[in-house]
Amino acid sequence: MLPINSIYHLDCFKFLNKINDGSIDLAVIDPPYNMRKAEWDTFVSETDFFQWTFSWIDALLPKLKQTGSVYIFNTPYNSAFILQHLSHRKLIFQNWITWDKRDGLGSSKRKYSNGQETILFFTKSKKYTFNYDDIRVPYESTERIDHAAKKGILKNGKRWFPNPNGRFCGEVWHFPSERHVTKVNGKVQKLPHITPKPLAMIERIIKASSNIGDIVLDCFIGSGTTAIAAKKLERNFIGADSNLSYIKLAQQKINHE
Ligand SMILES: C[S@@+](CC[C@H](N)C(=O)[O-])C[C@H]1O[C@@H](n2cnc3c(N)ncnc32)[C@H](O)[C@@H]1O
Repeated sequence: MLPINSIYHLDCFKFLNKINDGSIDLAVIDPPYNMRKAEWDTFVSETDFFQWTFSWIDALLPKLKQTGSVYIFNTPYNSAFILQHLSHRKLIFQNWITWDKRDGLGSSKRKYSNGQETILFFTKSKKYTFNYDDIRVPYESTERIDHAAKKGILKNGKRWFPNPNGRFCGEVWHFPSERHVTKVNGKVQKLPHITPKPLAMIERIIKASSNIGDIVLDCFIGSGTTAIAAKKLERNFIGADSNLSYIKLAQQKINHE
């Protein structure tokens, strides 16, 4: 097994080959989407893309503990196929999370503008970690909640008081993309990695689906977001990327954290 709390300049298959079976608590996977955004995101055909995607999924699944969880990012269209593959592999479906990227105005004139990505949440068995209390979100209707906090609301004959830490987290997540938050006067800036995920979103996943001291794996680590979030939250991490400049960037950011 490769030492943990390190990231490796390796292709995902070579990397996964060096990870012990049944050793990973949580896999947070943000792979290429076949959107031709970079060379690493470009495949000869859709068939080729799905063959490759299903192959890394098959290499990854044995690495999870029986109590392990996996989150996989992709477009909604690709996620529909990935979901079927995971179900065929007998993983247990938990959520289809919609990430509303809050990324400004789209320009589609022949269909609705794309503004979301999908995060599939599956577990290996019915016994898994889910720290729902650690990922509560603010209530939306503050007026009603302020009122309920004082007097309670009658629900099924019982008086209900809001939780001071907020409501349960739903499966539509609103996090502005890094591309959006780093715009200057509305102009998109060149980022050191072209598709970094918001740190707060990865932190939510890690808080919910792992505990302190657990091992979090990411075989497409890019700018290191998963490792940074894991370190911040006192989890162990292990990751890889096939692009050396991203590994160097991630390493710098992890050391800084
Ligand atoms: C969508 S990005 C991940 C971004 C990352 N979540 C972040 O927050 O920065 C996908 C990454 O997969 C890497 N990649 C592409 N093909 C790979 C392969 N065969 N093995 C390992 N990494 C690969 C790319 O270099 C890229 O950094």
